[in-house]
Amino acid sequence: MWQYVIFILIAYLLGSIPSGLIVGKAFYNVDIREHGSGNLGGTNTFRVLGKKAGMIVTISDVLKGTISVLLPMLFDQVTVNPLIIGVFAVIGHIFPLFANFKGGKAVATSGGLILALSPLLFFIILATFFLSLYITKYVSLSSMVTGFIAMLTTFVLDDIGLMILTAVLFIFIVYRHIPNIKRIKNKTEPKITWI
Ligand code: G3P
Repeated sequence: MWQYVIFILIAYLLGSIPSGLIVGKAFYNVDIREHGSGNLGGTNTFRVLGKKAGMIVTISDVLKGTISVLLPMLFDQVTVNPLIIGVFAVIGHIFPLFANFKGGKAVATSGGLILALSPLLFFIILATFFLSLYITKYVSLSSMVTGFIAMLTTFVLDDIGLMILTAVLFIFIVYRHIPNIKRIKNKTEPKITWI
């Protein structure tokens, strides 16, 4: 039991690292929460600070998820379910202790979990995301579509753990995209131009 408490705490703290805030403030003297969508994630960093910063923040956010899932294995704790630990990294990313509990939209860190748990599913969601982005030009919509397809794919993979995990992640993703859904309806959601 205590192992769970420790890993959950570490994963939450890891997820809480606000990479968008750190990169923005340290290298550009910009608080990205005051610009663009106001979100702390990779998409808003791309939008506000450009490709280099966007890539760094996205990769950092993915790694928070990947590392958290691998933690129990790295410390030889085979009785600890890595899926549960990973979920707490996503919770940390959404509600970060180090950024007034206002964080990202769960997408990149969820992707990081999937990367560690099922590289095949990760490849499928990556392809889904870029195909959806190519068609719709909306990052937010593509994030939600990808979350949904990830959930459906787990039925094909017949993996009950991944089914539950992707369902939980999909709920997080949709919940965090409510403002985007409203903007898509109002036709005020920005489209990307580079794809
Ligand atoms: O991953 C976040 C993305 O789906 C939307 O971000 O900044 O456009 O609200 P943003």
